[in-house]
Amino acid sequence: SPLGLLCCVLALSLGLSDLFLSVANKTLFILDLDIKTSGTGCVKVQKIECDNCRIETEKGTSVLQSIKSHKIDIRTNGGKVIGLGTLYGNTDICATEKGSVNIEKLQGTTINISTEDGLLKTKYLYAESASLSSESGDIMLGSVHGNTNLQTKRGSITVDSSDGSLKASTYHGTIDVYVSQLREVDLKSQKGSITVKVPASLKAYLELAGRKVDVSSEIQLKETQSASKDDHVTLSGHMNQRDEKDKWIKADTQNGKVCLKSQSWIQSVKLKSS
Ligand SMILES: *[C@@H]1O[C@H](CO)[C@@H](O)[C@H](O)[C@H]1NC(C)=O
Ligand SMILES: *[C@@H]1O[C@H](CO)[C@@H](O)[C@H](O)[C@H]1NC(C)=O
Repeated sequence: SPLGLLCCVLALSLGLSDLFLSVANKTLFILDLDIKTSGTGCVKVQKIECDNCRIETEKGTSVLQSIKSHKIDIRTNGGKVIGLGTLYGNTDICATEKGSVNIEKLQGTTINISTEDGLLKTKYLYAESASLSSESGDIMLGSVHGNTNLQTKRGSITVDSSDGSLKASTYHGTIDVYVSQLREVDLKSQKGSITVKVPASLKAYLELAGRKVDVSSEIQLKETQSASKDDHVTLSGHMNQRDEKDKWIKADTQNGKVCLKSQSWIQSVKLKSS
């Protein structure tokens, strides 16, 4: 709507540090939204549908609430990116320096998010393909659906619940993942430990390798094979099945420990809400 855009332009030209774009609780339809602030200028965008939504801040916070867009593109160089409600669309978020990303629900075909030092957090992630990375920030995800690729250098990686294909790799960080349903799960760390939690009834082939491998007693691994070489133990085996070759979990850490534990779905929900 021209009125909404006019408000934006006015707010910017008046030099206000905070920009509110919201028209009395109504969804606003816009073709292209393109907002750029400097210094600590913040942006708040609420209930908008648009073809392209592009926001760029320096240190300012961007708050996005209930956005539906073909493409959502957000950059910040030290600011916070906060998503409330659902952000719906192919999304690309890039937060450099201490910039962090905290989003309630993200849904799109492809989703890319990267941070440098800041936390990267999302409660619900629905994507055909999601790629999330951080240098030293932690990646903390709630419930994840689809093909997900996670990568950090020093940050740790936590996933409360994954039901698709998951690939996570880190150099120094630890990895802690609950796998509720399985396709392919591939977890790698150089220095950190890896904890894999699964329902005791999960059907899977597992291959676990590290300085030490711990399998908790409620989990029955069948046809186990174990090998060790230069302080590195590899344990493989089947859980509740032996035929489905496309359902597997691999966890490999060079210098850390691997733990396989059982956890029910209920427990994972309880942990999430506590
Ligand atoms: C705004 O929307 C919410 C939920 O859609 C509704 O509960 C509330 O009454 C609305 N407020 C106004 C001022 O219309
Ligand atoms: C995400 O990254 C991939 C690989 O770089 C790219 O092909 C894709 O277009 C990106 N998606 C978005 C929504 O930016």
